[in-house]
Amino acid sequence: MIHRLRHLSFETKLNLGIIAIITAMALALLPFVASITKEALLEEHRKRGLELASSLAARAIDPLLALDFLRLRDLITETREVAYIFIQDRAGRIVVHSFGPDFPLELASANQASLQNPLKVQPIDNGLERLDDIAALVRVHDEPLGTVRLGISRASVSLTLNRLLSTLMTIFLLGLVGASAAATIFARTITVRLDQLQARAEALRLRHVTSPFPPPPPVLPQDQHDEFSALESAFTSMAEELDARMEELLEAQRRLAEQTRLLTTVLDANPDRICLRDTRMIYHAANEAFCQAVGISKTALPNKTDFDLFPEDEAERRHLEGRDVLSSGQRMERHEKEDTPHGPRWFHVIQIPVRGENGQIRGLLRMDRDITAMKDYERQLIQAQKIESLGKLAGGVAHEINTPLGIILGITQLLLDDVAPDSPMADDLRTIERHTQACRKIVADLLEFSHASTSEKVEMCFNNSVMEAITLVRHTFSLDQVTIATDLDDSFPIIYGDPEELKQVWVNLLTNARDALPEGGLIAVRTTLLRDAGAVRLEVADTGIGIDAATITKIFDPFFTTKPVGQGTGLGLSVSYSIIEKHKGHIQAQSPVPKDFPWPLPIDPDRYGPGTIFTVTIPLDHASLEENHGPHPRP
Ligand SMILES: Nc1ncnc2c1ncn2[C@@H]1O[C@H](COP(=O)(O)OP(=O)(O)OP(=O)(O)O)[C@@H](O)[C@H]1O
Ligand SMILES: [Mg+2]
Repeated sequence: MIHRLRHLSFETKLNLGIIAIITAMALALLPFVASITKEALLEEHRKRGLELASSLAARAIDPLLALDFLRLRDLITETREVAYIFIQDRAGRIVVHSFGPDFPLELASANQASLQNPLKVQPIDNGLERLDDIAALVRVHDEPLGTVRLGISRASVSLTLNRLLSTLMTIFLLGLVGASAAATIFARTITVRLDQLQARAEALRLRHVTSPFPPPPPVLPQDQHDEFSALESAFTSMAEELDARMEELLEAQRRLAEQTRLLTTVLDANPDRICLRDTRMIYHAANEAFCQAVGISKTALPNKTDFDLFPEDEAERRHLEGRDVLSSGQRMERHEKEDTPHGPRWFHVIQIPVRGENGQIRGLLRMDRDITAMKDYERQLIQAQKIESLGKLAGGVAHEINTPLGIILGITQLLLDDVAPDSPMADDLRTIERHTQACRKIVADLLEFSHASTSEKVEMCFNNSVMEAITLVRHTFSLDQVTIATDLDDSFPIIYGDPEELKQVWVNLLTNARDALPEGGLIAVRTTLLRDAGAVRLEVADTGIGIDAATITKIFDPFFTTKPVGQGTGLGLSVSYSIIEKHKGHIQAQSPVPKDFPWPLPIDPDRYGPGTIFTVTIPLDHASLEENHGPHPRP
C-alpha cells in the first residue's frame, strides 16, 4: 500500500494528505463537540424546566389553599412545551393532571420534592422516550401544600443536537472540498515549476548527449520570490557550473582520445616490438610489430598470457624474466638471439617496470629491438679493423722484402745469361727465378692489400670490365667442365674505377668459384643497376661445395685458405676486399645460394652443391650519370 502511494503524483499525495488531516480532525472533534453540546443543551433544558416548575409552584399556592380546582386546571392547560403536568396535594393525591382518563399511577411516586430538596429532577424512561421529571414543592412559609410535577421531553434536545451535527458535517464536507480544491491549485503551482525544472534538467542532459546541435535550455521565469525560486536559481547556477565542467570534461576527453590515437600511431610506426603486461603477467596492449611477430590481432591480445602466445619453453622463460623484473623493480637490458623462419636474428630486449602515481609497480613494459643489422656491422667492423692492422703489417714486410727480391731476380737473370741454357746450373737458376717471381706476386698482392700500391681510376663500363675477366678465364674453365653463364644489366652502367684492379677482383672471384667446383658445374655472373641506390651490383654464384658458417667469417682474412699448400695463398679475397673498399664499394659472401636466385641456365642436379654467392656493390660514376640523364645506351 505504502509502496503504491510512493508512485502517486505530488498533486494526489497532497490532496490525500489534506483529506486525511481534515477527516482525522473531524473524527476526533465531532464526538467531543457533540457530547459537550448535548450536555449544555440538557443543562439549559433542565434549567428552563426548573424555572417553569418553580413559577408553576408559586402560582399554584392560592388555588391549592382555596381548593380552586378550576384555576388549577387552567394553570395546567395554559402550560406549553411539557410532555405532561400534574399537581399533587399535601397527601400526594393527584389533584389535576394533563393525562387523559388513565393516569399512570406509578408516575405519582417516581419523583418527590421535600422541604430539604424543594426542586428535584429525576430522569425517567416511559418506554417511548427519555424524559426529565421535575418535582417543585408548593409551600407557604415552610408549610408544604402539595407538589407540581411536570415532565420535559429530551426529544427537542436530540433534535437540536442532530441539527447541529448535520450542520457541522456539512461545514466539514464543504471544508474538505474547499481544501482539496485549494490543495490542487497549490500543488499545480508547484508541479508546473517542478516540470519546468525537470524540462531544463532534461535539456541540459540532452545538450551533451545529442551534440552537435543541442537545444538551448529553457529559461525559468523569475517572477516569484519564494523558496522555490531560490531552489530554481540554485539549480540554474549548479546546472551552469555542471555545463561548464561537462564542456571541460568533454574537451579533456577529446584531447585524451587524440593523444591516445597519436601514441598508438607512434607505437605502431615503431619497428620495435612493444608490449605491456600487468603485475599478473597478463597482456594489456601491444603495438603492431609485436602483434605481427606473435601472429595475433590487437583486439584478441588483451587477457592473454605468455603461455597463450609462445611455445612452452619460451613462454616459461619470458614469464620468469618478467617476474624477476617486477620483483626487483629494476630495469633489465640484454641481447637475445632468436630463431625465426627467416634465420637467426638478434634482439636488444629492454624490460621496465611501469609505476603508478604513488610509485607502486602497475605493470611491465617490454621492448624488443631487432639489432641483427647492427650485429652484422659490428662483425664487419671487427673484420675491417683486423684486416687493416694485418694489412699494415703485411705492407711493411712486403715493402722490406720487395727490394731484396728484385735484386735476387736481377742477379739470377744475369747468371742465366752467363751459363749454358742446358746446363744443370741453368735449371737451378730457372727454378730460383720462377719461385722468386711467385714471391714477387705475393709481395705485389700484399702491397695491393695494404693500399701501398697506387691505382689509376677512369670512367669505365662496368659490364665490359666483367666480360673481359670472363673472357680471360672462360676457355681454361671449360676444360674443367665449368660453365660461365652471364646475365648482365642492359643499361651498361658506368663507374669510376681502376680497370686492372677490378679485373683482378673479378678473376679472383671466378677462380675461387672454379676451385669450389672440383667436379665441374655452373658459375652465374649477374650485374644489376641499382638506380635508386646509385650503384651497380655484381653477383658471382656457383653451384659448388659452399662455405660453412664458421669458415665464412674468415674468408676475407689475409692468408686464410682451405686449399693445400702451394695451391692457395689465402690472399685473393683479402686483396679483392681492399680493392673494392678503395672504390668505396662493398663485398660480401653468402652460402648456400638463396633458393630464389635466378640462375641464367638450368642447374645440373648431379653437380649441384649448396654453392656460394659473392655480391659486390660499387657506386656509379655520378658525373657521367648526370650528364647522360640515365644509363649509357648499348654500344
Ligand atoms: N666460391 C667459393 N666457394 C667455396 N669456398 C670459397 C669460395 N671462394 C672462396 N672460398 C674460400 O675462401 C678461402 C679464401 O679464398 P681466397 O681467394 O682469399 O684464397 P685462396 O683462394 O685460398 O688462395 P688465393 O690466394 O690463391 O686466392 C678459400 O680457400 C676457400 O676456402
Ligand atoms: Mg682465391
